[in-house]
Amino acid sequence: MVKIAVLVSGRGSNLQAIIYSIEAKKLNASIAIVISDVQNALALNIAGKHGIKTLFVDPNKFKTRDHFDKNIIEILENDQVSLICLAGFMRILSKTFVQQFKNRIINIHPSLLPSFPGLNVQKKALDSGVKFSGCTVHFLDEGVDTGPIISQAVVPVLDGDTVESLSERILKEEHRIYSVAIQAFIEQRFVCEGKKVIWKNEKKS
Ligand code: GAR
Repeated sequence: MVKIAVLVSGRGSNLQAIIYSIEAKKLNASIAIVISDVQNALALNIAGKHGIKTLFVDPNKFKTRDHFDKNIIEILENDQVSLICLAGFMRILSKTFVQQFKNRIINIHPSLLPSFPGLNVQKKALDSGVKFSGCTVHFLDEGVDTGPIISQAVVPVLDGDTVESLSERILKEEHRIYSVAIQAFIEQRFVCEGKKVIWKNEKKS
């Protein structure tokens, strides 16, 4: 069974979706640990309820970002995880971290990358007047939301959409495509070639 770690900072709905997929046997993995950089993140309660090991790592206890990241690297190596899933983890990870787990860290982002990297992206999508937005599962690289794209789902932007209504519609798709992408990673159904992810034959979401 492939061991994964999930890094979180907040509400944890993507974590919950991953847990449901594992419980429904749609995802052939086990979560070795859920790590949060926010002490009272709801995601930690969700993991706890499902009997998953949790850990809060306080960023304020480390002199630099690199020290914080090295501590997390040590924890993940001790747990021998094969894949690290960022699910609403709101810190930028260092080059050291990314290189340590090259092509083994994936992230879900609530826009159709490369459009709208960074924060508050549903508002940015609405303000820009795009007719479609969506979500992206991608490998983490050294940039901010610039890593090779594994899969995407398109969500229409409707007249009268608010940040909340658009976010909610996008989130539904996030919950669907993230588990599918994780399972595909486990089954090695795609490979990363430079900036591109090549699917071996087919269906990406
Ligand atoms: C999700 O919408 C996720 O895509 C986003 O944070 C939210 C976390 O929600 N992540 C990013 O913006 C990362 N750049 P959740 O805690 O309920 O899964």
